[in-house]
Amino acid sequence: MALELKKTGDSSLTLYVPDLDEHYHSYHGALQEANHVFIKNGIEAINSQSVRILEVGFGTGLNALLTACASDKSRREINYIGVEAYPVATDLLGELNYPSLIENDNAEAYYERIIHDRWGKEQKISKTFTLTKLEQKIEKCEFEKKFNLIYFDAFGPRVQQEMWSDSIMKKMYDCLQSNGFLVTYCAQGQFKRDLKKVGFKVFSMPGPPGKREMVKAIKNK
Ligand SMILES: C[S@@+](CC[C@H](N)C(=O)[O-])C[C@H]1O[C@@H](n2cnc3c(N)ncnc32)[C@H](O)[C@@H]1O
Repeated sequence: MALELKKTGDSSLTLYVPDLDEHYHSYHGALQEANHVFIKNGIEAINSQSVRILEVGFGTGLNALLTACASDKSRREINYIGVEAYPVATDLLGELNYPSLIENDNAEAYYERIIHDRWGKEQKISKTFTLTKLEQKIEKCEFEKKFNLIYFDAFGPRVQQEMWSDSIMKKMYDCLQSNGFLVTYCAQGQFKRDLKKVGFKVFSMPGPPGKREMVKAIKNK
């Protein structure tokens, strides 16, 4: 699949998929979207000292990088599993400008480790952040341990409706711990109804700049 580098509204780069006419991130600002949806409303909304995160749609590794930096800030142990069906070429990832836009002296080194990390093997990115990248479709994944938090970052329903189906949401529900939650940028009506159908308590929250809403879905006790 051909990919092109594009600059977004906050100067951070993203990837564009011409075949799908779809971007990897919001064109209003890749970095500000990731910070808002996954960091502020995700990891920063959790108090535990040790957190297990599943990311669906690992893509560029931007969310993993920001979470590694958040782990530095809060000194919490984070174990992160990133699932990706179609990994992006490492050379192209090396052209993304995320580390230079993040206020953390280690960001460059972390991103280098993240993009060169071997698939299928747990690796330490920092003292407190451990990453396992899985090259697999989420539909095929089985997890031994449950997660506290899911970053659901698939392509939008317009181009990949099947990723937002009730069967995938049931899988997400089952692999969360009680009181665990999922965050995503998508706030489509049918998606929210499917989340409720499988048992989630659904909250529409203010979205990042350029988007009215995002979703947080909590697994009930
Ligand atoms: C919106 S983009 C990813 C954004 C990514 N989190 C980032 O920050 O770059 C969606 C990603 O989901 C991946 N994907 C598509 N189908 C998938 C599947 N069935 N299972 C896992 N990942 C999938 C795509 O290849 C793409 O990398």
